[in-house]
Amino acid sequence: MKQKILVAGGTGYIGSHTTVELQNAGYEVVIIDDLSNSNIEVLDGIEKITGKRPAFIQLDLKDKAGTLKALQAHPDIKGIILFAASKAVGESVQKPLLYYRNNIETLLNLLDLMPEFGVEGIVFSSSCTVYGQPDPEYLPVTENAPIKPAMSPYGNTKQINEEIIRDTIHAGAPFKSIILRYFNPIGAHPSAEIGELPLGVPQNLIPYLTQTAMGIRPELSVFGDDYDTPDGSCIRDYIHVVDLAKAHVIAMDRMLNNKTEENIEIFNLGTGTGVSVLELIHAFEAATGVEVPYKIVGRREGDIEKVWANPEHANKVLGWKTEESLTDTLASAWKWQLKLRERGIM
Ligand code: UFG
Repeated sequence: MKQKILVAGGTGYIGSHTTVELQNAGYEVVIIDDLSNSNIEVLDGIEKITGKRPAFIQLDLKDKAGTLKALQAHPDIKGIILFAASKAVGESVQKPLLYYRNNIETLLNLLDLMPEFGVEGIVFSSSCTVYGQPDPEYLPVTENAPIKPAMSPYGNTKQINEEIIRDTIHAGAPFKSIILRYFNPIGAHPSAEIGELPLGVPQNLIPYLTQTAMGIRPELSVFGDDYDTPDGSCIRDYIHVVDLAKAHVIAMDRMLNNKTEENIEIFNLGTGTGVSVLELIHAFEAATGVEVPYKIVGRREGDIEKVWANPEHANKVLGWKTEESLTDTLASAWKWQLKLRERGIM
């Protein structure tokens, strides 16, 4: 029988790609999303790709009574993947209480309700932000690198959520958890039926870059070229969102089908390669043949100079590794931007 998975935040960027991979792997998906930062039409994209429309409940997961009702309607849910969260670093500095409330209450409600419904595992969306700027001896970053004080309320919610899960499991909760620390997810499904759709002016590099390439923005600002890196711009580990999505399917299978003895596990999800902002711009130009006008401006406050993953733990233990090249990843981001134009969205 198909196992049923609740994807909390399933109409969002990573959630929608993960729903596609879960359905392709034979899972049945129920999405809960409040649509505060995503669009109901994402369900059409998922259906076009997989031939199946996931069940959908529009709900804010801070609403515990509503969450209880949703679980009563689907009492056979076996696993949960929690994406639903606020994620803008800058906004979190302005509105900390919003971030603490959204990102923590949601998790508390789900953890509280899981035992009653026999939900066996939860995959949590964490971030390499928990490592802050790792000291040089910890680059590339393994899961054992020290956790640094968070640079923003957003980052702090990721750390606190990890601790809440750890403490709950140590206290004997009857479920397992896998915490996935993402590096920088970019790109879109190769069909261009789903992708990243930021509201307003994009804060992240790739949507800003593709909108600039499209002529929507006059030029891309590169935040700093005086860092201690080979070309002076910041270094990140950019991972194709489809590769990232596939890791969630493996993690879920591992928990639900008894492929691990551990009650809680943590994995870094990255490619293992650091790429600078300037390298990324030039790789995009080479992948698409489209020029990206850019200028160097001052550093962005709070930016980490360089961080990239050591993904060996996930490679060995999950049997997962990234498959997509940076070129294909950037080409997919561009194809998605072209699709948005074609659909008259942007
Ligand atoms: N950058 C620019 N110009 C832009 C936007 C970004 O030069 O217009 C640079 C940034 O300075 C940084 C790199 O591009 O060096 C990547 O920036 P992003 O904003 O795309 O991503 P971050 O690494 O800053 O942050 C991302 C997520 C956060 C998460 C963090 C760590 O957006 O949610 O990774 O996990 F917390």
